[in-house]
Amino acid sequence: MAHPTDRLFREAAETLRARGNAVALTGAGISVESGIPAFRGIQGMWEKYDPMEYATIGAFLQDPEKVWGMLKEMVDLFSRAVPNSAHLGLAEMERRGVLRSVITQNVDGLHQAAGSRRVIEFHGNAEELICLSCWNRYPSRVKIREGIPPRCACGKILKPNLVLFGEPIPWDAQEEAETEAKRCSVLLVIGTSAQVAPACDIPLLSKRSGAVIIEINPEETPLTKSVADLHLREKAGVAVTLLEREIRTPDPSH
Ligand code: OAD
Repeated sequence: MAHPTDRLFREAAETLRARGNAVALTGAGISVESGIPAFRGIQGMWEKYDPMEYATIGAFLQDPEKVWGMLKEMVDLFSRAVPNSAHLGLAEMERRGVLRSVITQNVDGLHQAAGSRRVIEFHGNAEELICLSCWNRYPSRVKIREGIPPRCACGKILKPNLVLFGEPIPWDAQEEAETEAKRCSVLLVIGTSAQVAPACDIPLLSKRSGAVIIEINPEETPLTKSVADLHLREKAGVAVTLLEREIRTPDPSH
């Protein structure tokens, strides 16, 4: 007998096949299977580092050396990580014309590494460092090799060009994400706890514009019983692989 979740997967794949024009909104959960821990929950980054002490712009301005203690750990994890089957599956969906773009809250660069071409980095990225005093920019890899905390030529400690709490979302990313959210016919919400605004408002925007919302997460989130039409209660790697395969070659027995 078919497993009850099979029906949900088939329904999700049929929706994607019939509607196309999909966008994915991703969060830390999609990179967990690449060895990068999520922020919330057991073994999450925020269990080890209090975000008020390590992840706000105020904390960085007050004690950048301390905040670099956490940033160094993140950057090291990113440098070792490779895309997993969820990142690769989304890139394949884009190549096949099913997915139009990925809006990601992640700063690890794994969507691009997987081959996704249209990636909107809602919270910036860790590729680049910026000086908050003279606005010089540097490639992270080069500067970090020189030592931690990395410094600008002017002597100030550099900040990764990612969004800390209390900082605005990059203007172009915000605008592009809103446009994509309103234009898509299906929104895949993958691996986000949907607790951080304004990213968590994106599914609402899509829903109001008539999109079908498919959530992929082993846990429930505030979206599950509000805006999600389908909840695939699976890890991203398994779920995206199954979906991608089912869209490409529908199982004739279904
Ligand atoms: P969270 O850590 O808040 O949530 C991760 C989500 O991924 C949870 O809902 C997990 O159930 C789910 N998850 C865990 N493993 C998974 C897997 N293998 N497959 C699929 N899902 C899985 O991460 P985000 O929602 O991305 O912002 O957090 C949003 C923002 O909060 C981050 O961008 C960061 C953080 O503070 C800033 O730093 C500004």
